[in-house]
Amino acid sequence: MPGTCVIGLQWGDEAKGKIVDLLTENHDLVVRYQGGANAGHTVVTGGQTYKLSLIPSGILNPKVRNVITGGVVLNPPSILGEIDGLLARDVRVDRNMVISDRAHVIFPWHLEEDRLTEARAVSCGEAIGTTQRGIGPCYRDKVGRVNAFRLGDLFRPGFAERVRKVAVEKNSFLQTIAPAGDAPKLDAEKIIADYSGYGERLKPFVGDTTALLLDAVDADKRMLFEGAQGALLDVDHGTYPYVTSSNSSGLGIASGSGVPGSFYKRIIGVVKAYGTRVGGGPFPTEQDNDIGQHLRDLGNEYGTVTRRPRRCGWFDAVAARYTARLSGVTTLAVMLLDVLSELKEIQVCTAYEINGKRVETFPSHVDDLRDAKPVYTTFAGWQQDISNLTRWDDLPANAKAYIAGLGKILGRPVEIASVGPDRAQTMFAPGANWAPPTFVKS
Ligand code: GDP
Ligand code: IMO
Ligand code: MG
Repeated sequence: MPGTCVIGLQWGDEAKGKIVDLLTENHDLVVRYQGGANAGHTVVTGGQTYKLSLIPSGILNPKVRNVITGGVVLNPPSILGEIDGLLARDVRVDRNMVISDRAHVIFPWHLEEDRLTEARAVSCGEAIGTTQRGIGPCYRDKVGRVNAFRLGDLFRPGFAERVRKVAVEKNSFLQTIAPAGDAPKLDAEKIIADYSGYGERLKPFVGDTTALLLDAVDADKRMLFEGAQGALLDVDHGTYPYVTSSNSSGLGIASGSGVPGSFYKRIIGVVKAYGTRVGGGPFPTEQDNDIGQHLRDLGNEYGTVTRRPRRCGWFDAVAARYTARLSGVTTLAVMLLDVLSELKEIQVCTAYEINGKRVETFPSHVDDLRDAKPVYTTFAGWQQDISNLTRWDDLPANAKAYIAGLGKILGRPVEIASVGPDRAQTMFAPGANWAPPTFVKS
């Protein structure tokens, strides 16, 4: 059974969590394969809101197996807090979740490094605006292969000894990057005690997820891959250096999960009907004005993880066409369409002007993107509330024209439209060649 993948095509927060939750019913496994607790995926169902960070958004369906693979960087207290929060709300989290023993572990030194590096970068105007969850430093140690720990290492002899050795090096490194008097002093013995305790609690969940997923492929199981962040934050192909530290485009699915690309055929590119970005870096279609504020107010555009106000702007079709191609997207989901409902006119960036030249391709260097002036195509608004609609055919003609326009520019069919946060506020295009979940009327 070919796998399904859910990939954000912008700078994250495209409402991937909603789509994953929605499609979970038609799958046996939901897989998180990159990123870490920098992700914040929201699921709204039955009047309840769940914010998931490391745990796959399939967790709300007790029949599904949720898998966190070796491509993820795991902060043990974060995931334990998340597990406890879900258990307290009577959500099942036990043998329905498996975490890879290959997942790299975030330690307090990663969090300190992220905080101190960002603080230094702010003072010279180069801050990435990270979520300060230790993501970059942990992936850096992973790739560096020195001073790194995988989850399985917590249960091996010699763990305490290695922590003592690494803590000495990390303390001396943190001294060099901290402002005078602000150097944190990490206590190795406390870290050993804390992480041994976390290990004990996490042990029942830990396993070899690569083997598990390859067996699931052989057993013809239906898998749903849940991307974190958005493709424009991909470390290799995004707006470097204003990116995250993993392959957050569709290209990261195989390496992060261990499931080869030939297995998945349906790749859903999730886009907001407009644009948002959290943190630093160029955003050509940003509207730092009343329109941006209108989108922020109606879309409740405040970070799920950090509560930072999200930067808002028009839909950038040059960027999204690039990431749709990069991610091998076969079908599109257009989210938060309702947020545009009051606007008389809606702009979509269909080309850039860079140094006086019109270009329709996404620049490889961030300086060129910073210089890019958007060339807009104007769509007529629909100016009516659409948040109560449940049938595609009932969408106003201008809303349908907007969706169709995005699909045409991106070169892929739009098969899902979302008009509100709830599961029920979703529609599937008539004739879409796959089964919508039972509670969504097409
Ligand atoms: P993710 O990180 O891609 O899963 O997205 P986030 O959860 O960070 O942000 C998406 C936000 O939009 C969440 O607050 C969702 O509840 C909300 N949302 C999802 N779909 C819609 C929609 O169609 N309309 C509106 N107004 N909100 C939506
Ligand atoms: P979800 O999965 C939006 C952004 C940060 C920062 C940059 C690097 O909810 O879509 P990091 O902490 O990863 O080193 O920060 O990436 N970022 C996200 N923005 N949604 C996310 O995840 C993000 N995860 C990271 O704001 O600009
Ligand atoms: Mg999010």
